Amino acid sequence: MRRVVFNQKGGVGKTSITCNLAAISASMGYRTLVLDLDVQGNTTHYLVGEIDADAFPAEAQGVAGLFKQTVGSRRMQKNPDSFVWETPYENLYLMPSSPVLSDMEKELESRYKIYKLRDALDKLVDEYDRIYIDTPPNFNFYSKSALIAADTVLVPFDCDSFARQSLYSLMDNMAELQEDHNPELVVEGIVINQFNSQARLPGELVAELEDEGYPVFDTYLNTSVKMKESHREHRPLIDMAPSHKLTGQFLDLHAELEKSPSVAAA
Ligand SMILES: Nc1ncnc2c1ncn2[C@@H]1O[C@H](COP(=O)(O)OP(=O)(O)O)[C@@H](O)[C@H]1O
Ligand SMILES: [Mg+2]
Repeated sequence: MRRVVFNQKGGVGKTSITCNLAAISASMGYRTLVLDLDVQGNTTHYLVGEIDADAFPAEAQGVAGLFKQTVGSRRMQKNPDSFVWETPYENLYLMPSSPVLSDMEKELESRYKIYKLRDALDKLVDEYDRIYIDTPPNFNFYSKSALIAADTVLVPFDCDSFARQSLYSLMDNMAELQEDHNPELVVEGIVINQFNSQARLPGELVAELEDEGYPVFDTYLNTSVKMKESHREHRPLIDMAPSHKLTGQFLDLHAELEKSPSVAAA
């Protein structure tokens, strides 16, 4: 089961949602892999902290290493699992990002490597029960590769007034990608993040989305300072604050996902 978390708008919670859902999945005993396709590497940083750049040469590691070998000698190709790191958390694994991803993008695109991530993940079906993919805030080579490789997409929505406009162009882009590359991709749902029930606007925005027929998950994620603290401490909420309200919301959202028909179909 492969899920990508995508929205071309930055700061909507892609990284927070990917890491926290994945950490919950791992804590429930699913062997869970997180892929960090954003050159900023926030997911990598969140899950494993500071990386010693000397010990881990950027080009040979993680997602960059995986893509790099698609343009190299066939004989030297390694199994995709050799680009996966352990994390401090049981059952949680990471294919980290790298600062060289942006330098590599043009070549990968011009050599039409857009299906390579899907091919690589196909080789890992027996290794991981759940795969979560974090994406950059752009509709670029990496996010397209992820949307092609995934079974479903979760779209975080951060309840600000620009969010709706960007949702329309997001849905257009996604429809085009489905038509051109991955007709099986399911838009599993919109994840309402940074919801504030005291203010009028968030409730109105969400009601409008539902009226327009968008699939919105029942569980909304509140704004909480715990989230920033959790990033700062490099500890997902289920580890740092298992009984916090926001953790409870993530658990509810995770339960909704596990009930989804896409799980049975994958
Ligand atoms: N529910 C939340 N409550 C409080 N802060 C949040 C919440 N979700 C995300 N944030 C904060 O918003 C910022 C952007 O979140 P992030 O997950 O990095 O978004 P993206 O990956 O889409 O850029 C981060 O500083 C994060 O700590
Ligand atoms: Mg991010």
